Amino acid sequence: MASYSQAVLDQIRSAVDVVDLVGRYVRLRKAGQGWKGLCPFHAEKTPSFTVNPKKGIFHCFGCGVGGDAFGFVMRQDRLSFPEAVRQLARSAGIALPEERGGGDGGQREELFRVMALAARFYAEQLWRPAGARARTYLEGRGVDPAVARRFALGYAPEGWETLLGFMRSEGVAEEALVAAGLARARDNRPGVYDYFRHRLLFSIRDLQGRVVALGGRAFGDEQPKYLNSPETPLYTKGNLLYAADLAREAIQAKNRALLVEGYVDCLMAHQHGFTETVAALGTAFTPAQLGLLRRYCDLAVLFFDADAAGQKAAARAEELLEPGGGGLAWAVNRAGTLEGAGTLRLRVALLPAGHDPDTFLRAEGAPAFEERIAGARSLLGYALDRAIADPDGATGPRARAGAFARAALMLAKVGDAEEAAALSREAGARLGVDATQLWIEAQKLQASLRRPLAPARPAPPTSTPPPVERDLVHLLLHAEDARAALLPLLVETEDLGHPPLRAIVAALRARPAASAESLMTDLETEEARGVLAALLVEERQDLDVRVSIEQFQRRLERSLRLRRARGLSQGIADAQAAGTDASVTEALRGLHEESAVVYGITGGTAQSLEHGTGESTRSADA
Ligand code: UTP
Ligand code: MN
Repeated sequence: MASYSQAVLDQIRSAVDVVDLVGRYVRLRKAGQGWKGLCPFHAEKTPSFTVNPKKGIFHCFGCGVGGDAFGFVMRQDRLSFPEAVRQLARSAGIALPEERGGGDGGQREELFRVMALAARFYAEQLWRPAGARARTYLEGRGVDPAVARRFALGYAPEGWETLLGFMRSEGVAEEALVAAGLARARDNRPGVYDYFRHRLLFSIRDLQGRVVALGGRAFGDEQPKYLNSPETPLYTKGNLLYAADLAREAIQAKNRALLVEGYVDCLMAHQHGFTETVAALGTAFTPAQLGLLRRYCDLAVLFFDADAAGQKAAARAEELLEPGGGGLAWAVNRAGTLEGAGTLRLRVALLPAGHDPDTFLRAEGAPAFEERIAGARSLLGYALDRAIADPDGATGPRARAGAFARAALMLAKVGDAEEAAALSREAGARLGVDATQLWIEAQKLQASLRRPLAPARPAPPTSTPPPVERDLVHLLLHAEDARAALLPLLVETEDLGHPPLRAIVAALRARPAASAESLMTDLETEEARGVLAALLVEERQDLDVRVSIEQFQRRLERSLRLRRARGLSQGIADAQAAGTDASVTEALRGLHEESAVVYGITGGTAQSLEHGTGESTRSADA
């Protein structure tokens, strides 16, 4: 990952007009020194979202979010920091160091150029006389020519040197074609030949719409059915989703994505109006792909080919629940500390046997497809099925006890509280037990599952502090009242995931009466000093200190209470292990009371600060 110098960041920041930037998404009115509008990050009726052009920052009084232009783009477009930097740099016309040639940046640029040339060449062939076979094929499969054009489908003509000839005339070197995966070296004599021959071509593009790979379908039974570009410096399998560039806007607008297996499925879904569809490109979906979707929506509906859908779903669901098992859990439910990063819910839509989305849409049409989407079931439900099913098909009390234990264990691994609650209800009904009982058992297991992990929560990979944590520390630095009210509630190791912020709070705790500036010398690392500096220069006169204190008070109290509930769960587990019945009963009572409080507060939608999404905790505050 590229890291950018402060100088470059400053250059971009000063080139970007934050009012103009925010104004593309939010209707802003002039208000005093700054601008005001309805916050795009939480639901509100009266504007409490402000933009300060002089400082280049935005801030919402309602939900407490704020930041600079980078922060805004990250939130709005759900980008990572480097992506936000690149986007703003591009729109400001500032060349980033990596794009100024040299290094392998130069080679990548050349490969992008070659891929773009090739895709254009192939797309033109489709509409030329030579492309008749491919056009007939498309027609036979019911693909609308307009859709074929929108997806920039292409045709690789027969012959060994068609693309080669064209590229020679463009002055592209053979090595570049090989590096781009468009040509191969001959085995027995010098020279290269075209990789794609006599195939219908699908362009795989990155989110910026740049072609990075191609997939080619055979017209008949030739093998392989689909020939895909090899991995190249531009293309890593499993990192991209087919049609993500075309679907992104619709995914955001509809707040859901449909994930299908095949190119044609994807094309057909778009043709039938499901423009929020992407395809997984021949692999089982990967953490990177889910992470990508999570930036744009809260729900992904998965379509597996009907024959093996249940099995595939269960297998994927189980992977999802294994910590470190391929990292899917992280992708879906990256537990932040004060602010969850957003959870992607996964559902599975089932089609009748023998159908894939392509054939189903053509046979039954869009409304029937929409019904299948509406009937989609939580992916984790498939894991529950497996948990409940007795491996030997046994019934009776022993088998039921086993099913109860396995269901509880499975529920214990579900990070998303809302899902977990729904699954508990489902499992409770199916096992004929009280859902609360199951839930308590799961909490207990969760406490013991977590024990070894607790102290070593990994630091976030980038050094950008989570906005809410940053806001909290900012408040602590700038408002004496906040220190008195919030420091006793705050547990750094639990509430702050960002090491520099933890260090700042530790310093503050050691010298609670110190001026914010003087803490600089108490900090050990460059990084922490940098973060403190950033917080210091950011005076927010527009901040309502009292309201912010109250908001954080609520947040922190909630997380304290949750930890207490977890502690009680642990207590129950320990007491049971020690076999002291009286203390078990006592702890159970406590846990009951605590869970009632926790659920009461969050309306059952967010389990804690750790697992609740930023959105749901915020709207609970509003
Ligand atoms: P399927 O074999 O299920 O085919 O592959 P499909 O999508 O229904 O294809 P049509 O309808 O017969 O044209 C699903 C996806 O897996 C990848 C492709 O992305 C394909 O769309 N795949 C499949 C390959 O990459 N290589 C193959 O040889 C086969
Ligand atoms: Mn198909």
